[in-house]
Amino acid sequence: MKLRYIKAYVWLSCVFVANVIVYTVVTLSRRPLSLQASGRSAFIGGHLRLWQHRDLHGLPLWDLLLLYMDRLENPILRNTTAQFNLTLPGTCGESFHEASQRLVDFSSYPSHLQAFVLSMHCRDYPLLVGPADDEACPNGTQLLVAVRSQMANFDRRQAIRQTWGRTGLVRNVTVQTLFLLGRQGSGDGHPDLEALLELERWKNRDLLLWDFQDTFYNLSLKNILFLGWLRGHCPSVELIFLGDDDVFVRVDTLMAYAGSFDAVTRRGLFAGHVIQDAAPVHDCKHKHYVPESFYQGTYPPYVGGGGILCSRDVATRLHEASCHLPLFPIDNIYLGICLRELALMPQNHPGFWTFNMEAEGQEDLCAYKELIMVDHRTPQDIIRLWRGLHDPALAC
Ligand SMILES: *[C@@H]1O[C@H](CO)[C@@H](O)[C@H](O)[C@H]1NC(C)=O
Ligand SMILES: *[C@@H]1O[C@H](CO)[C@@H](O)[C@H](O)[C@H]1NC(C)=O
Ligand SMILES: *[C@@H]1O[C@H](CO)[C@@H](O)[C@H](O)[C@H]1NC(C)=O
Ligand SMILES: *[C@@H]1O[C@H](CO)[C@@H](O)[C@H](O)[C@H]1NC(C)=O
Ligand SMILES: *[C@@H]1O[C@H](CO)[C@@H](O)[C@H](O)[C@H]1NC(C)=O
Repeated sequence: MKLRYIKAYVWLSCVFVANVIVYTVVTLSRRPLSLQASGRSAFIGGHLRLWQHRDLHGLPLWDLLLLYMDRLENPILRNTTAQFNLTLPGTCGESFHEASQRLVDFSSYPSHLQAFVLSMHCRDYPLLVGPADDEACPNGTQLLVAVRSQMANFDRRQAIRQTWGRTGLVRNVTVQTLFLLGRQGSGDGHPDLEALLELERWKNRDLLLWDFQDTFYNLSLKNILFLGWLRGHCPSVELIFLGDDDVFVRVDTLMAYAGSFDAVTRRGLFAGHVIQDAAPVHDCKHKHYVPESFYQGTYPPYVGGGGILCSRDVATRLHEASCHLPLFPIDNIYLGICLRELALMPQNHPGFWTFNMEAEGQEDLCAYKELIMVDHRTPQDIIRLWRGLHDPALAC
């Protein structure tokens, strides 16, 4: 009788030890295999890296940092980071000069990309302005509309508040709109808008303002600061629309689309206008220019254009993933990189329009029937569209 128990214990111990070994091996080779599908950065993926010694010279900076951050987090391999001859600055106040020294062509980078590299180690920027906890998402808000705006765009924010971004009930869902801002101080040659902004904040209580410079190449930062903020706020929110301040959204079709999924699929939702097989633009005159010394290979599938719809669950996981991934200067692509890390695929929906409509097409309101979102609209366009689509005489 006793012997049987001893045998059982021995057997259980063996199973336990085997589990620990399997767990350790899996943890060490944690990066999902999906990364391997991506061109040059492929060799970082999978467990092969454990046994391969690689030449770090000649790696693009982003790939090098990815590998470095991965090693730093690994309790066993952390020790091997010495070969990188790299230290991330300890504070946000310091610039990442080491990165710039590694890039032989750093001086030929456009100035905004230089600024990006010098501050890409930092994500800790304090929130300067934000609604009180009970004001951020009142009445059990379920859809949170987060609009990336810039300080000076008062008219765009007001157009959204008056039209599609109205807080309240849409299809039985409580919607709340918040605006995401960075700093544009007089030091950067901007007019001083503090007093106006204070008035706007007091009147609407829908502004979030972080202490970083609000530029195009800091939009990735804005996204992850928002996703980080969301983790501590608005527990009732199930869906998030994250978009620019020049988009028009039909919240009713957006909710209908989200409602067409079962609960499990909806939890993994990340949708918009999906772009596949894109590659970095190496033409230095282009807005999205990315030098070869910074990043090589193709981009993962990502959502382009003015906005995305995602579930709270995905938003949380994206924020977690971003902590392990070096920032990327183009915000849409950075979210795509984070999705790939999570082995999630963005969902395409033709209702997200990111192309320019013909002038005559714009007048035909029936063309907007299936619309979820359209970008590059002026505040006047937005108000005109809203009025037109709510006109009881409209028959399509
Ligand atoms: C790893 O750590 C051990 C002890 O802390 C040290 O002796 C060894 O030199 C380190 N190896 C590398 C490659 O830094
Ligand atoms: C490490 O990098 C510094 C500059 O960042 C350079 O001066 C030094 O020679 C490098 N050391 C090695 C061993 O490569
Ligand atoms: C929340 O509910 C209160 C009372 O029901 C109402 O007065 C208020 O307008 C609602 N707020 C929003 C944003 O819907
Ligand atoms: C909204 O909710 C109420 C009660 O919760 C329900 O009676 C009504 O049918 C719902 N309307 C729609 C359009 O779902
Ligand atoms: C982003 O913001 C930080 C903090 O204000 C700033 O140091 C950096 O230069 C900005 N980056 C870009 C690309 O403008």
